[in-house]
Amino acid sequence: MTVDAERAAAAEAAVNEVRAGMLVGLGTGRTAAFAVRALAQRVKEGLRATCVATSTATERLGVSLGLRVIPFEAVSRVDLTIDGADEIDPRFCAIKGGGGALLREKVVAAASDRVLIVVDANKVVERLGSFPLPVEVLPFAEAWVMRALTELGAAPTRRVVEAGTPFRTDQQNFVVDAAFGFIDDAADLAARLASIPGIVEHGLFVGEIDEVFVGREDGVERRTKMR
Ligand code: A5P
Repeated sequence: MTVDAERAAAAEAAVNEVRAGMLVGLGTGRTAAFAVRALAQRVKEGLRATCVATSTATERLGVSLGLRVIPFEAVSRVDLTIDGADEIDPRFCAIKGGGGALLREKVVAAASDRVLIVVDANKVVERLGSFPLPVEVLPFAEAWVMRALTELGAAPTRRVVEAGTPFRTDQQNFVVDAAFGFIDDAADLAARLASIPGIVEHGLFVGEIDEVFVGREDGVERRTKMR
């Protein structure tokens, strides 16, 4: 199986959880895009669903495939969100934001009754931290946030689209990729990051995720968090 086939299989399995009439949160990234396509296919076959998107890119994709995507602004609750991740550990903690959509992803996840993560097998790790943690930063505060991240033990770098041109999020903020090495206590680090003024949001997800669908060589493994 190719990595894309693993992504597609995980995404299709998660999309099978969508029921008629649901409001569905659409994630961002390559794996989430497979879920958008799979949902669009089910809608073509007659499923009724309305969607909200975690990025302008996903909104465009969903609309282009015929999905009904409404603005999130007026939404206070989402039935089910399907999103990707950069790393996920056995406690359902994750690093997200490789695509830069972490702020909207976290807001939509917080508003969701259920959050399903779809990944290929390479994303499953014992300990988070090989993937540098994406941090969305107010441009005004970049230098200060870099210093604060360094003092927390990270090696931060500003994300760029090309040399000299910073990557901008949908909110026009910067992203700093903070290499912490292995993260022993994700909840503690999340709290420390949340207390730094100028950090708009960070890509550590510590309590939002309910289920993980892992695309593997031999099929899709489904993991459900024990409550
Ligand atoms: C987007 O900001 C991210 O959180 C993605 O969900 C994450 O980077 C995984 O993306 P891929 O499925 O493209 O690896």
